[in-house]
Amino acid sequence: MNRAVVLDVKNLRVHYETPKGDVVAVNGVSFSLYRGETLGLVGESGCGKTTAAMAILSLVQPPGRVLGGEVWLNGTNLFTLSERQLREVRWRSLALIPQGAMNSLNPVMRVKDQIGDAIQTHDGKQPRERLSTRIGELLNLVGLPGRVSGLYPHELSGGMKQRVCIAMAIALTPPVLIADEPTSALDVVVQRVVAQTLVDVKQRLGVSMVLIGHDMGLQAQLVDRIAVMYAGNLVEIAPVTEAFERPLHPYTQLLIASIPSIKARRPLKAAEGLTHDLRRPPPGCIFQFRCPFVMERCRTVAPPLREHAPDHRVACHLYQSDE
Ligand SMILES: Nc1ncnc2c1ncn2[C@@H]1O[C@H](COP(=O)(O)OP(=O)(O)O)[C@@H](O)[C@H]1O
Ligand SMILES: [Mg+2]
Repeated sequence: MNRAVVLDVKNLRVHYETPKGDVVAVNGVSFSLYRGETLGLVGESGCGKTTAAMAILSLVQPPGRVLGGEVWLNGTNLFTLSERQLREVRWRSLALIPQGAMNSLNPVMRVKDQIGDAIQTHDGKQPRERLSTRIGELLNLVGLPGRVSGLYPHELSGGMKQRVCIAMAIALTPPVLIADEPTSALDVVVQRVVAQTLVDVKQRLGVSMVLIGHDMGLQAQLVDRIAVMYAGNLVEIAPVTEAFERPLHPYTQLLIASIPSIKARRPLKAAEGLTHDLRRPPPGCIFQFRCPFVMERCRTVAPPLREHAPDHRVACHLYQSDE
C-alpha cells in the first residue's frame, strides 16, 4: 500500500533547561502521519506528549528548547520557517487543540465572537452575514445547535466547551489536526461522545489527525495506528489492532494489561509513575527499571526503534538479537 505522508516528524529533541540540569522531555522522537488517518499518541502523564505537540508547531516556551529534529509538512521543514511564516501555517495547515483548551476560552466573550475572532485573524475581515453562517455551520458540524453561538463559556457544559474548541480548531479546515487530550477533563460518557464527534468531523473534512491521550482503552476505539511513548521516547508504533493483539514492547503490554475491564474484573496492575529522574536518563533502555524482561544489554545499549513486522516498529532488545 502506498500511503501519502502528510506530516513527518524526524528525531525531535526537546529539553527543559532547569537549574538542576536538563529535563529530557522528548528524546529523538520520529513518526509519520499518513493522509486521512488518526494516529494515537499515548503514554502516561509526563512522558512528553504535550511537549512533542508544542514542538511540532514551534510553540515550546522557555525554559523549553528544541535541540534538534525536523518537522516536514507539505514539503517544508517547519523548523526553517520564520515566525511570520509559522503563523500562516498554524490553524490553516496544521491546527492544534491544546491540552486544557476548554478552560482557556475567554470567559467574557460569546462563543460566536471567539470563533469569529479565530476566523478573522487568519482569513481577514468577513461580512457579518457570511461569518455568522460559517459559525453556525461549524457548530453544527461538532454537534451543537446554532443558538450556542450567543452563549458565554460559563453557560456551557464541559462537553459543549470542548466542542467549541474543536469548532475553532477546524474553522479554517486544516488538513492536519493535533488534539492534545481533548477529552481528559470530561466524565467518561461525555468523553466517548466528544471523542466520537472529533473522529466524525475528521472523517467528514478529510483531516489527518494526531490524537494525544493517556487512555489506552479510549484510543483503541478511535485510532488507526497507535504510537506509545515512555519517558520522552517512542517505544512502539503499530496499526491499532496489531498493537492490541501483538503488543511487543513490555511497556505497551503493561498499558494494555492495565485497561480496566468491567467484564473480567481484572485488578489494575501498577502502571503509573516514571521510575527515574528525567534529568538523568539511564544509559541503555529507557524502560529498564520497570521492565520484567530486562537483560544485561538493556543496561548499556539503547535499543533503536526498528521495524519488527510490516508497519510495526518497536524499540526493544527482545526483538533485536542480531547485534
Ligand atoms: N516548564 C517546564 N519546566 C521543566 N520541566 C517541564 C516543563 N514543562 C514540562 N516539563 C517536564 O517535561 C516532561 C514532559 O511533560 P509533558 O510534555 O507535559 O508530558 P505529557 O503531556 O505527556 O504529560 C515532564 O517530565 C514535565 O515535568
Ligand atoms: Mg500533556
